Amino acid sequence: MKHRTKLRILSIFNTADRQLLKTSAELVDLRTLAHDGMQRLIDDMITTMWRADGVGLAATQIGRSLRLAIVVGQVNGRAEPFVLINPTVTVFGDEQNSGEEGCLSVPGVFGIVKRATRINLKAFDRYGQPWSLPAADMFARIIQHEIDHLNGTLFIDRTSDITKGREKLS
Ligand code: NI
Repeated sequence: MKHRTKLRILSIFNTADRQLLKTSAELVDLRTLAHDGMQRLIDDMITTMWRADGVGLAATQIGRSLRLAIVVGQVNGRAEPFVLINPTVTVFGDEQNSGEEGCLSVPGVFGIVKRATRINLKAFDRYGQPWSLPAADMFARIIQHEIDHLNGTLFIDRTSDITKGREKLS
């Protein structure tokens, strides 16, 4: 059974949605994290991401212009959601790797994207505390994909190697 997502995920196949997905998001005012509405939004994004079988979800994908994203990482072998507020990334070294990506906002389409292999992530958590984390490989890929969303960039903007769903883009 397919669960309904809590929030509507925008799709590039909808003209109005596409416009929003292509827009860069605004910095989160950390003081707003004290508001119930903001904490509820974060919880709803996490629920929506799980129900959609995603490994990441950016606020721009649900029509909110906020530099806020959820990414899934592995903690002791378990998938855990990480909340990224105003995230920034520094690339370590010049190693890149190619991997297949999809996106909840580009349903049915997959493509090969080249990304930095090793990064350092800096962000604030849902309570406004700064944290940072080195990330590599798949986790680094997910983080870069979500930060792209916050800048109005989609994975299909970064590849000419579409592996599935090419006909949907024409
Ligand atoms: Ni995406």
